[in-house]
Amino acid sequence: MTGAGDVAARATAGFRQRYGGEPAGRWAAPGRVNLIGEHTDYNDGFVLPFALPLRTVVAAAAADDGRWSVWSELDDEPVEFGPAEADEPGRVDGWAAYVAGVVWALRAAGHTVPGARLAIASDVPVGSGLSSSAAIEAAVLAALVELGGLDLPAERWPRLAQRAENDYVGAPTGIMDQSAVIRGRSGHALFLDCRTEAVEQIPFDLGAAGLAVLVIDSRAPHRHADGEYAARRKSCERAAEALGVAALRDVATGDLDAALARLDDDETRRRVRHVVTEDQRVLDTVELLRAGRIRDIGPLLTASHASMRDDFEITVPEIDTAVEAALAARAYGARMTGGGFGGCVLALVDADAADAVADAVTAAYADRGFTAPGTLTVLPAGGATRLD
Ligand code: GLA
Repeated sequence: MTGAGDVAARATAGFRQRYGGEPAGRWAAPGRVNLIGEHTDYNDGFVLPFALPLRTVVAAAAADDGRWSVWSELDDEPVEFGPAEADEPGRVDGWAAYVAGVVWALRAAGHTVPGARLAIASDVPVGSGLSSSAAIEAAVLAALVELGGLDLPAERWPRLAQRAENDYVGAPTGIMDQSAVIRGRSGHALFLDCRTEAVEQIPFDLGAAGLAVLVIDSRAPHRHADGEYAARRKSCERAAEALGVAALRDVATGDLDAALARLDDDETRRRVRHVVTEDQRVLDTVELLRAGRIRDIGPLLTASHASMRDDFEITVPEIDTAVEAALAARAYGARMTGGGFGGCVLALVDADAADAVADAVTAAYADRGFTAPGTLTVLPAGGATRLD
């Protein structure tokens, strides 16, 4: 991991080199992990993510030709597009689609978006389930809102960024990632009600408690994650319909058994059980954190993992291996974080045991013949912001 200064310097250097001159400013947005509450966001439920110290930085300036030019470290040449491409979802693809999607969502909401030149650098790894796409969306949104002097309070940014992803890029995700990277606050986890969008900043001061969250990048190969995600979402929507509720969030924990009895296939029953019990685990985690009992959330994290593995069926062998090895090395709790089928695991550990847990996971991987995992110790950081 490199410091925020380095990534900002890379964005500025990219801007100077591609466009000449100086950017008008630099805007940053982080990646995220989700502490608990998986596949609950699109069921109108509860999530508890936090923003990471890894950031994406956009160096940008307005352009009077009314077009957008975007360069990223991922490519040599900038991608250029105008209103015609921005107004037609799908016309811009690859990483630049997240930028075009933001322009599209702003225009669709009636805003006059200034033309701009943007240069993007990022420390958020792509494809690891740490929401590198939401980080780009949020940083670009922050830049365009300010460059254009748009009247758009930050509370409304997550929905817009989600629309960019859903309707321009075409990924049917919920609102968690965009909310986490926009509204996250240092030292806190973001308790979000995905139906009302009400948020509460929950103190999560790991450092003061001598604790850390170890993030383990499973490096598992991509396994049809997009199709499986969409299938899970469909299955939840069908179940809600069959149960006569607007969303699975409306099935109370106490009514779960009765609801399950009304469903006629086992797979759907297990999907529903995951979502309903996961919502409850989020609420229980929030209660414990409010009481300052951070260590005690460990069993809830581990139970969440078991539910994702057995009921929602979104884990893979590398992920399960990382969780088991972390627990065997005395993590308080461990679970996969994010959409599933690869991505990252998080483990709650004593700060001075983080290296030993990371070593134990690496050793378990070697035993199984898996590509070595990446590991990183993190504390909750702040959300999207202007740097200077
Ligand atoms: C992905 C999506 C989120 C959420 C998670 C699962 O990260 O982008 O909206 O659904 O998966 O919790």
